[in-house]
Amino acid sequence: MNEKLPRHIAIIMDGNGRWAKQRHLPRIAGHKAGVDAVRESVRYCAEKKIEALTLFAFSSENWQRPEMEVSYLMSLFMTMLKLEVKKLHKNNIRLRVMGDRERFDKKLQQLMADAEALTGNNTGLNLVIAANYGGRWDICEAVRKIAVEVEQGRVIPNQITPELIEPFLASKDLPEPDLLIRTSGEQRISNFMLWQLAYAEFYFTDVFWPDFNAAEMDKAIAFFRKRERRFGCTSEQLRAEHA
Ligand code: IPE
Ligand code: IPE
Ligand code: MG
Repeated sequence: MNEKLPRHIAIIMDGNGRWAKQRHLPRIAGHKAGVDAVRESVRYCAEKKIEALTLFAFSSENWQRPEMEVSYLMSLFMTMLKLEVKKLHKNNIRLRVMGDRERFDKKLQQLMADAEALTGNNTGLNLVIAANYGGRWDICEAVRKIAVEVEQGRVIPNQITPELIEPFLASKDLPEPDLLIRTSGEQRISNFMLWQLAYAEFYFTDVFWPDFNAAEMDKAIAFFRKRERRFGCTSEQLRAEHA
């Protein structure tokens, strides 16, 4: 039954600011409203038994936003971790945070570590929150770690293949996203999972993130089901394979 459902959905949750502006509210009201959409998308994926959901919550470039907005996002993150983790655990969801955590407040780093420890053995949905994440950062980290392996003689340069690189990426041991959703009408990748999205199907919708709900998720899945994923082959080859 799960055939043709994506195994891993990645979402660039965009448009909170514009959602708020439309309502003559401050930008942070949009972020607050976005939390409900996060809950709904998690519930949706858990119910449909999707293996992994990665949500882009804060990019390595988002530090450049006004200080007030950044600190609001940080406090929202803290509150979410405090209030929601027990519920995630009860629902057998495994949470992890992907990104450079060093820049976060120590208390926030601790909450992230606690949440991962609590939910680490859960076997349901893998929920990944990308925070202070950038695709280039991810690749740089992998390169740095592989360089150490080479330096210490455990890897020789000729052994470096995509398969060798993958376990060094932040998304290690998850299937790569097969569906990328970006809300709010923007059609760019904004330094998200550059390596991992190599063969993902891209779904763009004009809906702002706070308005993204189960019905919108259904549309994204319907779009995904219609795609023919060729991975470099021809249509005829794929049909012959399935005949
Ligand atoms: C996405 O919404 C949330 C984050 C980047 C944290 P935006 O805040 O980017 O909303 P717009 O793009 O300004 O409408
Ligand atoms: C990308 O959204 C980051 C997140 C959704 C967290 P932005 O709204 O920051 O992206 P740009 O700057 O418009 O490309
Ligand atoms: Mg935006």
